[in-house]
Amino acid sequence: MAQTTFEEISASDFFYRNRDIAGFTNPSRAIFAAIRELVENSLDAAESLKIPPDIYVRLSYEGEASKETQIYRLRVEDNGIGVPPRHIPSAFGQVLYGSKYKLKQQRGTFGLGGKMALLYGQITTHQPATIISSTGITKIYMYKLMIDIQRNRPLILDRKILLNKEQWRGTIVEFTLEGDYFRAMPKILDYFKQTAMVNPYANLTFVDPKGRLYKLTRITKEMPEPPKETKPHPYGVDVELLQRLIQITPHKNMLDFLKNHFHRVGEVTAQKFLEFSNISPSKNPKKLTHEEIVRLMHMLKKFKDFLAPDASCLSPLGEELLKAGIIKELKPEFVAVHQRKPATYAGHPFIVEVGIAYGGEIPKKDGFLIYRFANRIPLLYDEASDVSVKVIEAMNWRRYKVTPDMPIAIMVHICSTKVPYKTVGKEFIADRPEVRREIANGLREVARQIQRFLTRREHVDREKKRLGVFSKYLPKIAQFSAKLAGKEKLPDIDKLLRSVKRFGAEET
Ligand SMILES: Nc1ncnc2c1ncn2[C@@H]1O[C@H](COP(=O)(O)OP(=O)(O)O)[C@@H](O)[C@H]1O
Ligand SMILES: [Mg+2]
Repeated sequence: MAQTTFEEISASDFFYRNRDIAGFTNPSRAIFAAIRELVENSLDAAESLKIPPDIYVRLSYEGEASKETQIYRLRVEDNGIGVPPRHIPSAFGQVLYGSKYKLKQQRGTFGLGGKMALLYGQITTHQPATIISSTGITKIYMYKLMIDIQRNRPLILDRKILLNKEQWRGTIVEFTLEGDYFRAMPKILDYFKQTAMVNPYANLTFVDPKGRLYKLTRITKEMPEPPKETKPHPYGVDVELLQRLIQITPHKNMLDFLKNHFHRVGEVTAQKFLEFSNISPSKNPKKLTHEEIVRLMHMLKKFKDFLAPDASCLSPLGEELLKAGIIKELKPEFVAVHQRKPATYAGHPFIVEVGIAYGGEIPKKDGFLIYRFANRIPLLYDEASDVSVKVIEAMNWRRYKVTPDMPIAIMVHICSTKVPYKTVGKEFIADRPEVRREIANGLREVARQIQRFLTRREHVDREKKRLGVFSKYLPKIAQFSAKLAGKEKLPDIDKLLRSVKRFGAEET
């Protein structure tokens, strides 16, 4: 008789078997995803100290893997916060290990991205990765490591400590991976351009395998305020989270428990809530049964008087910086930006920022150029499924004098402690009614601004045409009428032209 066997797999094993869900689908996507994940880590690392990021990325050719795929060496270097030496092996060699589980806006989320890149490199080239890092103190640490996939543990192959005479601070990650750079190239270059657009305070340098240098230089050292850590909002908790809080809480009664572990819950609100849900304020949270915890979660969601989460845990770009980024990368003739007020979905705060740009270096094509961003990361794949695209398509643009043949770019940036991504690969945002509404309202605002610009332009064009007609025919009419009247001297048409011109100028 056949026997069923049961076994357990580790987190790295799981992601090893399911690398598609993290965006490592094929050699071209993989090389894009690897660069993106490491650049995101570097940006996070510099921003958390509010240092303008300096990031250097080099992709070089190592050898041939097969007909289509090559082996590349990828090196990413930053001036960020650095990794404390005791965390280096796990931060780079253990899946689901990281410093970003805190509740605030960050690019990284699961402690996964960087490791997926290294894991992919390891399984395609069987080489260790090199990590060099310093937090700016007297020493620099260098590790050569691999991931023990079955145990989900780092395997340290070599470790060196160097003196840090120059007080260098930052991180260098270098490893080899299989990929198809030439197919991925347009996306990668696009990625850098769009990253520069929403991080106008960053210096990004990319050297590609042909030795071509792409330099995206910062135009400002202004940076948005870093986000503050927050507590979970009562509308956003689930049973698992409640259980964890109950486990760790030092508080002995429900009133203190609610006041101390939840965002926007003070003494009065906590009392009101306990009354509403018929729970005794003196009850010990550790004594709650499983059923009572489930009920608590439902009541938390039902109670109408919790204040909405505040947005200090978010770090939007701000209208000034968004505008600066757009001008820097697209050099348009006109740009309008708008930041919405903070909103929430399912207890998670979010802010939408939008922009619209016209003319300049924006190409004319059939349809708008759409740029989507989440927590200052460009989203480049699966555009058609994204909520922004749906909102843009559903809008009546003609009402705003905008037609699809115009050279127009639209950007939508959503930042949140929990961006409603549809997939782990972080490529597109789910269609949530709250998010959709914010995007639509933001777009209407910038649409009204572009409408004013287009109306003005139309007018100027008309005036120019009118002046053109005048200056072409007036001299002829003058000549003709002078002849007809039998006069020698022509009437002064310059005066006449000047007066129509002045009228036109006033109107613009
Ligand atoms: N360039 C870097 N500078 C500083 N810390 C880093 C860097 N790259 C990775 N880390 C650390 O390693 C952890 C794991 O990174 P990663 O696997 O990409 O997961 P995540 O970014 O989702 O946390 C991060 O949380 C961070 O603490
Ligand atoms: Mg990461």
